[in-house]
Amino acid sequence: MSDEITVHPFTWPPAPIKTERLVLRQSKARDRAALIDLFASPEVGNYVGGSRPRDELERALPEVPGQRLGFFVVELNGTTIGMITLDRRDPERKGHIRPEGGEPELGYMFLPQAWGHGYATEACAAALDWFADAHPGEPVVLSTQTANEASMRVAVKRFEDYGTEQWLGVWYPGTPSD
Ligand SMILES: CC(C)(COP(=O)(O)OP(=O)(O)OC[C@H]1O[C@@H](n2cnc3c(N)ncnc32)[C@H](O)[C@@H]1OP(=O)(O)O)[C@@H](O)C(=O)NCCC(=O)NCCS
Repeated sequence: MSDEITVHPFTWPPAPIKTERLVLRQSKARDRAALIDLFASPEVGNYVGGSRPRDELERALPEVPGQRLGFFVVELNGTTIGMITLDRRDPERKGHIRPEGGEPELGYMFLPQAWGHGYATEACAAALDWFADAHPGEPVVLSTQTANEASMRVAVKRFEDYGTEQWLGVWYPGTPSD
């Protein structure tokens, strides 16, 4: 996908999104090596179905991996550190907020050397802001292994109340559980 496409109501790719420290943008050929590092990393693959052998990735990945709608590369000072995805959730999977499935789903993967600085949280917030402009009012889902504590911390919005950390969950009546 090299040409700009318009999918109502937004245009893909969007202009690069700049945050305080990061840039979120469409992938380019120069991201290939970092994306191979990401998919080959056992640490990264730990809770997302495992890593893939580097030589297999070298053979399988296209010249410009991740050229698709909703795939953002995340760059820090010109270096690729991770990716954010907004894909439609497979209707065959469990966990939906509408019976027909296909909800927009947020995903995030960062290189281990970029963990522990708040980059994932910063990038997710920016991607969600972009999505809220592109699809006003449409909720985004996210699923993660509960054992993936770092991911749970990114996903779960915490706040202070009564002098201690809290988390607020929301249940919608009539929402199917899968
Ligand atoms: C999930 C993942 C992106 C989380 O990475 P992370 O570095 O923990 O998350 P953030 O970038 O938001 O950083 C948050 C951490 O940085 C710390 N931090 C340091 N400086 C910070 C700053 N300026 N702002 C915010 N947080 C900061 C926070 O305290 C927090 O540390 P803690 O978790 O020990 O409390 C990462 O573990 C990963 O890529 N895992 C592999 C792929 C994966 O499992 N993806 C999820 C699939 S659903």
